[in-house]
Amino acid sequence: MVKAGIGLAGLGFMARVHSRALNGIPEAKIVAAWSKFPEEHVKFDEFSKKLGFEIGTYYTNIEKMLEDPGVDAVICAIPSRFAEPIANEIIRAGKPALIECPPSDTPEGIDRMEKFAKERGVKLMPGHCYRFAPCFKKSKELVDKDEIGAPLFVHFREFVPAESLARQWAPGSWIWDKDKGGPIPTMTVFCMDMARWLLNSEPVSLYATVKWQELPQLGTLGYTVSNVIKFENDVTWVNEFSGNVAPSVGPSMKMEIFGENGNAVMVDGPERVILHTEKKGVKREWSFDITRPERWGHKPQDEHFIRSVVLGHEEPIVRLQDAKKALKMSLAILESSKTNRVIQFDQF
Ligand SMILES: NC(=O)c1ccc[n+]([C@@H]2O[C@H](COP(=O)([O-])OP(=O)(O)OC[C@H]3O[C@@H](n4cnc5c(N)ncnc54)[C@H](O)[C@@H]3O)[C@@H](O)[C@H]2O)c1
Repeated sequence: MVKAGIGLAGLGFMARVHSRALNGIPEAKIVAAWSKFPEEHVKFDEFSKKLGFEIGTYYTNIEKMLEDPGVDAVICAIPSRFAEPIANEIIRAGKPALIECPPSDTPEGIDRMEKFAKERGVKLMPGHCYRFAPCFKKSKELVDKDEIGAPLFVHFREFVPAESLARQWAPGSWIWDKDKGGPIPTMTVFCMDMARWLLNSEPVSLYATVKWQELPQLGTLGYTVSNVIKFENDVTWVNEFSGNVAPSVGPSMKMEIFGENGNAVMVDGPERVILHTEKKGVKREWSFDITRPERWGHKPQDEHFIRSVVLGHEEPIVRLQDAKKALKMSLAILESSKTNRVIQFDQF
């Protein structure tokens, strides 16, 4: 079997998520890792050994890692506003890469990255994991099979306890910078991409409110986002995101898609999808017995990255332009809430 040698760029939260995923993919092997902070090498080494694998070589110099002949491809998990120079190094070295999302903090940054990659003939895939999560794939399959007729209305919510986010990102992390949008781009962009993909339609307009809460006991920031998106196919998609709920609130994610024939698809956490049909009391249900790296789509996403971008067996189903559109929608949340205006997506 052809094994793809993977180099990790960045050794934070998402590098761990990808490592758990890659650890279960026979075609992949993590052979090298880069972080400019040696203390992150030590922590990551402890983590990987607990998981039962060892990274070949740790680098503090990205160019050196990219010169490593064992590195066939890179997974880049660097905060969006610092990712472009790292992505440029990866492109210069001619290595295919999965770039975590958002790949840049501006749509223009994503265009520049795409242009440079095209000039150098390097394939990049953005990390939009929700497209690969079993619960969302099933929902799209049911919508595409016309089980609910034309979709009319979608309600999506993702509520995360503040303590979980504080464990993920310590006080002082890049993500708690409110002037740069705090966690909102990162915590909304995956749903935005999923909405376009699931509905097969582009957004027309978006209105949002955001409430912020300082959380001095944790040194982090709470957020509550409500937003309404109108799509070209006349679907209204309503989102609620919170980073400050009690852990007992229940499944962090729920989605309900209502169709014109009265049927509805309901996602009750990542493990369960229900199809409610018009006949009284009739419903069909799917339960997914999935491991942690499969739950939000990371493992199937990384498998797809290896098969498509690295080994060239198929075309990637998600591209940098999709990441740019999802970022525009997440940035529109921030703009709409600041200006109290509806944002029109004229040139999407
Ligand atoms: N797909 C998902 O489910 C998901 C979830 C969370 C975050 N993300 C995305 O993953 C990316 C990384 O997030 P994370 O949670 O791993 O962050 P993190 O803070 O946990 O780790 C970031 C890594 O980047 C390095 N880094 C930070 N600033 C740097 C700089 N200026 N130059 C070079 N290296 C730098 C850090 O040392 C660390 O190794 C972000 O784009 C984020 O939006 C994706």
